[in-house]
Amino acid sequence: MSQKFWNEYYKNTNAPWTTPDAGFVAEVTHLPTGSALELGCGEGADSIWLAKRNWEVTAVDFAPAAIENLTQAAQTQGVNVKGIVADVTTYQSDEKYDLVFLCYMHLRRDERHQMLNCATKLLSPGGILVYIGIAQSSAADSDIPVELLATLDEIVAVLPDLIIERADVSYRVIEMPGENENFTADVITVRAKRPL
Ligand SMILES: C[S@@+](CC[C@H](N)C(=O)[O-])C[C@H]1O[C@@H](n2cnc3c(N)ncnc32)[C@H](O)[C@@H]1O
Repeated sequence: MSQKFWNEYYKNTNAPWTTPDAGFVAEVTHLPTGSALELGCGEGADSIWLAKRNWEVTAVDFAPAAIENLTQAAQTQGVNVKGIVADVTTYQSDEKYDLVFLCYMHLRRDERHQMLNCATKLLSPGGILVYIGIAQSSAADSDIPVELLATLDEIVAVLPDLIIERADVSYRVIEMPGENENFTADVITVRAKRPL
């Protein structure tokens, strides 16, 4: 979906994504505090959750309205998240991170490979990459076009330079903004480490 679509979405939404994803929280809660980068942060519930736990967080999204909403939400909650407006399929920085994470980034196959390639390059030695997304097998459970959904094997295959620590699909509830909108789907979780 286009940058214009997402920017309008965040300008007009009155049901912000304010709850961190339970799967993401479970994956990172045991990690030592450090620097983190979120690719495709939206309104940044996961980034803000980390910042509240003393992580130094940078969050990237191509929708300026998402970064504006995130910055405002972080300020209101008394934490700092560095927001950057950029395309995650090309984003690079001299800075490297202890944690790079991507949640529900459903892009076309070529774009998601570019995004994961960028994510890998942004990891510090020993850094952890966390990928969470709806699996292709759950296309019928969501309104996301099937070509935007990956398989577990595909995600693992595009991370050849990392040590895979966890890679599975679980059928679980995903909390949605607004009321009565939670849904259940096959969710891919991959946690991988850049070798030292
Ligand atoms: C489904 S939302 C997920 C937001 C957040 N990760 C979460 O879990 O709540 C997808 C986000 O990816 C962003 N996005 C999509 N394609 C992007 C791209 N090529 N570069 C940067 N951001 C992108 C959208 O603006 C949107 O905020």
